[in-house]
Amino acid sequence: MKKMNILVLGSGGREHTFCWKLAQSKTIDQIFVAPGNAGTAGLATNLDIGVKDFDALKNAVIQNNIDLVIVGPEDPLVNGIHDFFLEDAQLKNIPVIGPQKLGATLEGSKEFAKAFMSRHNIPTAQYGTFTPENIEEGYAFLEQMSPPYVLKADGLAAGKGVLIINDLDSAKKELSNMLLDQKFGKASSKVVIEEFLSGIELSCFVLTDGTNYVTFPMAKDYKRIGEGDTGLNTGGMGAVSPVPFADDKFCKAIQETIVKPTIDGLKKDNIPYVGFVFIGLIRVGDAPYVIEYNVRMGDPETQVVLPRIKNDLAELLYATAKGKLDEIELLIEDQSATTVVAVSGGYPESYEKGKTIKGLTSSPNSTVFHAGTTLKEGEILTNGGRVLAVTSLGEKHKNALLQSYKLLEEISFEGMYYRKDIGFDL
Ligand code: AMP
Ligand code: GLY
Repeated sequence: MKKMNILVLGSGGREHTFCWKLAQSKTIDQIFVAPGNAGTAGLATNLDIGVKDFDALKNAVIQNNIDLVIVGPEDPLVNGIHDFFLEDAQLKNIPVIGPQKLGATLEGSKEFAKAFMSRHNIPTAQYGTFTPENIEEGYAFLEQMSPPYVLKADGLAAGKGVLIINDLDSAKKELSNMLLDQKFGKASSKVVIEEFLSGIELSCFVLTDGTNYVTFPMAKDYKRIGEGDTGLNTGGMGAVSPVPFADDKFCKAIQETIVKPTIDGLKKDNIPYVGFVFIGLIRVGDAPYVIEYNVRMGDPETQVVLPRIKNDLAELLYATAKGKLDEIELLIEDQSATTVVAVSGGYPESYEKGKTIKGLTSSPNSTVFHAGTTLKEGEILTNGGRVLAVTSLGEKHKNALLQSYKLLEEISFEGMYYRKDIGFDL
């Protein structure tokens, strides 16, 4: 196999982890990342191009003889970057890992995802969809449900579009805020109201070439800012893999009732799909239900999932692009992986950037993945809410976590905060 030049799109911990794993590949010539961060700069060539600037990305792909593109975040996929490549005479033969716009609608529209699940009998919460025109029916729908009430903006809302409300009057008020006052802009011009499911959540990641697929190890992320899972939702404060409560029987149920029907459903509906499907799951009793689909890998789940995959990532992605995933046997590392995310003070509300990060180091069992960092005059500065994710491997979660926490004690920046209870509930 010819050595490839690969372009990774994105700038977070997920993308640093992709670059780190690709850098171990035998089949890679050069790695480029747009725009990347201070961590990716040590492994790849950072290109100063935003993920939405398709024309500049085109030039970079041609100039750098890129053989394959991996799209990290959902935004460019929902905005049709894969379609842009297919429609361009110079780009159409360069494979993109990430679905076309139609497939990306699984993440871009909650209603589309719910209708897909209902068509293919995939277990998920009961729901109704409402617009400003039938808001009265929405109120009536809420009245016949029992609390808590789950209201979801149909479109992308940067992870903020889901409200879980305890009393009926507030739920009606929020429905009106979303539909009539555009609480989440255009994203809430349609609202999905769902039955509340009570259980423990986990994430399942599937890589598909459209026909064949492999399922990566399960992971669990910790979304709330505060210890004991309290406070505001964040992008994710830590993650672990494997997930102890996902035993063989439960994983088999996920495969049979969710993963297979999802991939088969995409085919039946003529939705071309090459890339990752991230299935957000909840365990209700003994049964898995789908909370949501994402059309990319998770962040910070990638930081614990990729370190547990023994295969050459470039080979895996090349097979995906060629429709030959059936020829790959996925090899999983038995050890546990954990990651703890260090964030800027104030996050997920307002926070400052540009703080000097001190004490950056690594150890044999730990890697510091950069999430929001930048290089300025030789210094590494904070550049986002989530700043670093410290991943460790160990025989058990506990051993791995101790290593991550030990390394974090050496790292500092003004306002730095991290949860000290990742994995506490397992
Ligand atoms: P989503 O953006 O759809 O993943 O929703 C964000 C979070 O809201 C999920 O991770 C769950 O914690 C919660 N959530 C969403 N839908 C439901 C539901 N039907 N029942 C209970 N919790 C939910
Ligand atoms: N950690 C959740 C996500 O990537 O959406």
